[in-house]
Amino acid sequence: MVRQISILILLLTSVLLIPGGCSAESMENAYSNSRLASSANASTNTMSNSPESSNAESTQSSKAGNEKILVVYYSLTGNTKDIANIIKNETGADIFEIKSEFDYYRKDVEEVVKKHLSEGYKPKLTSSLHNIDQYDLIFVGAPVWWFSVPPPVMSFLSQYELKGKKVVPFCTCGSDYGDFFKQFENECSDAELLKSISFTKNQLSKKDNVKKDIIEWLKEIGIKK
Ligand SMILES: Cc1cc2nc3c(=O)[nH]c(=O)nc-3n(C[C@H](O)[C@H](O)[C@H](O)COP(=O)(O)O)c2cc1C
Repeated sequence: MVRQISILILLLTSVLLIPGGCSAESMENAYSNSRLASSANASTNTMSNSPESSNAESTQSSKAGNEKILVVYYSLTGNTKDIANIIKNETGADIFEIKSEFDYYRKDVEEVVKKHLSEGYKPKLTSSLHNIDQYDLIFVGAPVWWFSVPPPVMSFLSQYELKGKKVVPFCTCGSDYGDFFKQFENECSDAELLKSISFTKNQLSKKDNVKKDIIEWLKEIGIKK
């Protein structure tokens, strides 16, 4: 019931704020007024379209201790991308953006995503990672879509072998991540999942705290001293 009410609020907000198009600004307002402006109480949790073939964008020192780290993310309006970049900067990780052949940047995104999720549709990805074997620890971040993991991220999780690797999920959402982490966990049952983190729209709006929360979390999971 609570979930139905919150999704109704999300949809009403989007109807009010996306009257005639799918500009970056309208998408942003509809779901996340907050682009990393950040968070006093981020929650942690225990547990384009032309084909592109690329390796992860490399930094000079993508190692913490002996572990080589990668940050993988999918982001439609930029919130998750901002978090991914903070994690990258704080850990010296390489970074990789998941890109989907299906362009979700559209006015009817809610309906389309709802349909795709119910069908278990996994879009073809147009960015690819050739060197995943070299990474010991992989952060994977996404926006929450209908309380779930977005289809392009489901494609990523089923396409790449994460067995034996440490995987750290993170997400951004309007207000409720629902089954996101449960679903993520089911898709990565062979990996060693570390404690996740999530940021709501409100948390994202308290910019100064986001970085602080991320640093604390990285220390807690043993990635940063
Ligand atoms: C299709 C769609 C469905 C969404 N469903 C939810 C949801 O179930 N719960 C929620 O709290 N936010 C929901 N949101 C809001 C996004 O999760 C939130 O704005 C997120 O920070 C966007 O991340 P991004 O900027 O990286 O794309 C939804 C947004 C879209 C476009």
